Amino acid sequence: MTDKLIIFDTTLRDGEQSPGASMTRDEKLRIARQLERLRVDVIEAGFAASSNGDFEAVRAIAQAVRESTVCSLARANDRDISRAAEALRPAARSRIHTFIATSELHMEKKLRMTREQVLEQARLAVRFARNLCDDIEFSPEDGYRSDPEFLCQVIETVIAEGATTINIPDTVGYAIPELYGHFIRMLRERVPNSDKAVWSVHCHNDLGMAVANSLAGVKIGGARQIECTINGLGERAGNCSLEEVVMAVKTRRDHFGLDVGIDTHQIVPASRMVSQTTGFVVQPNKAIVGANAFAHASGIHQDGVLKARDTYEIMRAEDVGWTANKIVLGKLSGRNAFKQRLQELGIEMASEAEVNAAFARFKDLADRKSEIFDEDIIALVGDESVTAVQEHYRLLSLAQRSETGERPHATIAFAAGDVEYRVESEGNGPVDATLKAIESKVCSGAEMVLYSVNAITSGSTESQGEVTVRLQHSGRIVNGVGSDPDIVVASAKAYLAALSKLQSNAERVPAQS
Ligand code: KIV
Ligand code: ZN
Repeated sequence: MTDKLIIFDTTLRDGEQSPGASMTRDEKLRIARQLERLRVDVIEAGFAASSNGDFEAVRAIAQAVRESTVCSLARANDRDISRAAEALRPAARSRIHTFIATSELHMEKKLRMTREQVLEQARLAVRFARNLCDDIEFSPEDGYRSDPEFLCQVIETVIAEGATTINIPDTVGYAIPELYGHFIRMLRERVPNSDKAVWSVHCHNDLGMAVANSLAGVKIGGARQIECTINGLGERAGNCSLEEVVMAVKTRRDHFGLDVGIDTHQIVPASRMVSQTTGFVVQPNKAIVGANAFAHASGIHQDGVLKARDTYEIMRAEDVGWTANKIVLGKLSGRNAFKQRLQELGIEMASEAEVNAAFARFKDLADRKSEIFDEDIIALVGDESVTAVQEHYRLLSLAQRSETGERPHATIAFAAGDVEYRVESEGNGPVDATLKAIESKVCSGAEMVLYSVNAITSGSTESQGEVTVRLQHSGRIVNGVGSDPDIVVASAKAYLAALSKLQSNAERVPAQS
């Protein structure tokens, strides 16, 4: 057994299945590039057969990523597997991940198939996939709730057909660490050809134990791959969180004795990018990536940390990519200095046009905000008005008036494609008036299911506000994010970004539909 633990990131597939977290091709590509900087071993880029949009996203990622293996999910049928292989063709290293449910409940109620049919379909799928790709992962969906006897039979069969990784999903997050660890161990002991494949764990977080279960699968069960997502993103309560599981294995190397290839300095930038793109805010007390994760507020702790950091610190904030709130650039900084800072922060822009758009936004921000921090720059490049230069709706100008005793009023100018509009409205507050004014022209009919404001840098009212808006319309859910020192402006940008996404045709079908 090797001492290397493979980190398989499924933010762009299982994470994206979370309602509201669906991403455009370009957003997925940007995150994939960050995952490569993070040095994850495998990036599950999507589910190529689920939609043309996801096919294109998997293909673009396969083209762009050179270091990590790029993987696509596929149901256990020839069509899905062919689509996955086609999308992965440009990849330097590729993997097809095929799955079929093996629990009695799923086979009978969902698939309406017998055990014999499922076994045969799994066998044929892996045989077919193996002719198209050398690296094949097989997952018995709802594996943890499957009959062990039958599960062993399926696994032995697919390994004999050439599956190189066997992944055991706890699809509904039902497992308990000790039991899951022993389950993996039992399977590895009972399946006669188990040593011919790498064993993998895939845990959902419904009982809050996805990380603990995954670690038990490694420690007790002997698994050597963990499937996880940035910020634990995923349907319902999410998946095993990459940052937690990686830092647990690294910090407690004395216990696990395993190496991970992750560049931990890229963890916080990755967390921030995923949160900004999806609009799923990270709770302040979230381990590793929460704003308070390294904040020592009590006097006793502060005193101890000042005397010797390891009195209360088991990890260093800088090792996971937290930067001190440093003033890095000012209004006199030039384009080169700005570009260099982007590089130092590990931010790669897709084109010079994006750098120019980001630099223009930086200049604008520096005129209005005296101190620019790294966090401001990260937010600025994540701002959809910069990265999605092709956005349909764009803010041109905004004026709003609010006075005690008066009803707030907003006048806004925005562009829809090449046409410019000027609209005005009253509202309960300045944000409400602004969004009502936009809606009076666009008439999207969308329902707002989330509106949230966060301060990008803490500790000062000078901080930029970052607004996330989530809209729902005809079964589609989209997020828009905007940042600005003026939260009314940030709100208008976020709303226009969300409307642009609704207006585009980017579609996505969830994996298990
Ligand atoms: O949770 C699950 O069962 C899955 C499989 C498709 C691997 O995500
Ligand atoms: Zn899953």
